[in-house]
Amino acid sequence: MAVKIFNGFAGLGGNSMLWQEHQVIAVEENEKIAAVYKKLHPDHEVIVDDAYKYFKNNHEQFDFAWFSPPCQKHSRMMKATRHKVADYPDFRLYELIVFLENFYKGGWIVENVVPYYKPLIQPTKKVGRHLFWASFDIYAEEVKQPKGFITKSNLRGKQEMMDWLGMQFDEVIYYKGNHCPVQVLRNCVHPSVGKQILDSYQKGIVVQQQLFGAIA
Ligand SMILES: C[S@@+](CC[C@H](N)C(=O)[O-])C[C@H]1O[C@@H](n2cnc3c(N)ncnc32)[C@H](O)[C@@H]1O
Repeated sequence: MAVKIFNGFAGLGGNSMLWQEHQVIAVEENEKIAAVYKKLHPDHEVIVDDAYKYFKNNHEQFDFAWFSPPCQKHSRMMKATRHKVADYPDFRLYELIVFLENFYKGGWIVENVVPYYKPLIQPTKKVGRHLFWASFDIYAEEVKQPKGFITKSNLRGKQEMMDWLGMQFDEVIYYKGNHCPVQVLRNCVHPSVGKQILDSYQKGIVVQQQLFGAIA
């Protein structure tokens, strides 16, 4: 069954590479990243905007919503690095989850990293390096990461990551002043995980319809 999907904080859209047949609206604030997303997903509508604001104003039109807010301020790298990075975590992550739990009627999922602190809201599931908060049960297995995932930092690493994710593009994008062409690819959720999660949501809907039908 085709559904209307909001893909918030879309990045390059690793998560959405295998979402065929659905109507997808992707919101990404970085113009260069959004342009590559459009090349990789010509059938998706891509909007350059703030995903928090866009979703708050338009949430009623979507059946399913995926969010991948930036993870840098939650990542264990914040504490592992030798550089001076002490900073406040970005708790809009939790504002978003509370908003979804209380105001959004569709199916939803929020993705982030395993943080360096105890999550303020208990996640639904951990899959590999990702934590997920969701409105449905998730059945997904991680896809083994390529060797040297964290340390890849040159154009060869970029090609290896593109091969792993099944996406190809020529542009070299530096994410938020980071001098590594691989970071924007490391940000991606593997397409297989994105597909397994959308399938989990859809299976949950079918089970609900069967139960509802059995009771009616
Ligand atoms: C973790 S990445 C998304 C990865 C994506 N889910 C995937 O699988 O490829 C987060 C993205 O959110 C974008 N971003 C950060 N703040 C944003 C905001 N307020 N609104 C929209 N996009 C934002 C960043 O530019 C980055 O590309």
